[in-house]
Amino acid sequence: MDGNSDVRLEEIGAYITLEQFIIERQEELAHSTGAFSRLIRDLSVAAKIVNWHMRRAGITDVFGDTGVINVQGEVQQVMDALAHKEFVRALRRGGECCLIGSEEHSEAIPIRTNDDGEGNYIVLLDPLDGSSNIEVNVSVGTIFSIYRLPDGWGEPTVEAALQAGYRQVGAGYIVYGSSTILVYTTGHGVNGFTLDPSVGEFLLTHPDIRIPEDGKMYSINEGNYNSFEDGLRKYIKWIQLEREEEGLPLSTRYIGSFVADFHRNLLKGGLYMYPATRKSPNGKLRLMYEANPLAFVVEQAGGAATNGIQPILQLEPEKLHQRTPLYIGSKRMVETAHQFLRGDRDLK
Ligand code: AHG
Ligand code: MN
Ligand code: MN
Repeated sequence: MDGNSDVRLEEIGAYITLEQFIIERQEELAHSTGAFSRLIRDLSVAAKIVNWHMRRAGITDVFGDTGVINVQGEVQQVMDALAHKEFVRALRRGGECCLIGSEEHSEAIPIRTNDDGEGNYIVLLDPLDGSSNIEVNVSVGTIFSIYRLPDGWGEPTVEAALQAGYRQVGAGYIVYGSSTILVYTTGHGVNGFTLDPSVGEFLLTHPDIRIPEDGKMYSINEGNYNSFEDGLRKYIKWIQLEREEEGLPLSTRYIGSFVADFHRNLLKGGLYMYPATRKSPNGKLRLMYEANPLAFVVEQAGGAATNGIQPILQLEPEKLHQRTPLYIGSKRMVETAHQFLRGDRDLK
């Protein structure tokens, strides 16, 4: 490493690994026994393995689809299946998880084989987010959400996983981008760790992330404009007004990998929206795998996440794979979008 590349680590006190960090923070967790720390470690191991596959994509044969239509009705990519397999394998081996729900698997996957008290965490996963981007070298990611098996539950079943987002005990994501970064929260702020490929460790590079209250960027698939509800169409027209004194217009940034759009907006300020459309009347994104975990992260960073009416974290889930409209990002931007959606505000 040259002098310059060390600068960021020097700024923050240098070389705190994810492993050290979770051990130091363990006492913040209620009923901490070390099991949760081991669970995060297991997820980070899977992330490193998926990252390794990703870095060789195009050289090894991991592009293309599997020929399977997944439970979402979407074409499953080879990397979707591979990421799913690696995360399930790491969680199974780790022994702290009793049940997995995955976007790539129609049923919940029970892990615990007996009820000897081991493995009390439920993990819900989008193993590979943005997978349709993978063949063209665009950032993709993994999103995870963690719950506790409710006390006295017995054998873990899918109903145990159907908990509202505010009951998450941890959540986070990995972006496999220009570098690989893991960001997570346990309800005590948000921290980000960049994978140093030379030593194979996630190092703390983004301590205590706060999302700016307001932002200059909005992310939405505007190709669906004609099927948005009226209030949203007005909001977008307002965003595009040439009113320098009000900080308008904003810039559009839409990668088409939710986790990558979210990560940029988290660091720079911005709003990501995936509303209801004619084609997807409940929105496209999944409540349990995408909306809830990133809603927990964004709230912990000082931002907001709603379905256009209510906070995402308050929604009572009915199904593992259910979808929800989503407005997520800088607090003030979410509030302004709501004013337009409610019809309290107009273009003037
Ligand atoms: P996934 O790859 O896990 O199925 O998620 C794809 C999602 C999300 O990542 C992205 O923001 C959105 O789909 C893009 O959808 P559109 O192509 O409809 O804009
Ligand atoms: Mn996704
Ligand atoms: Mn996915």
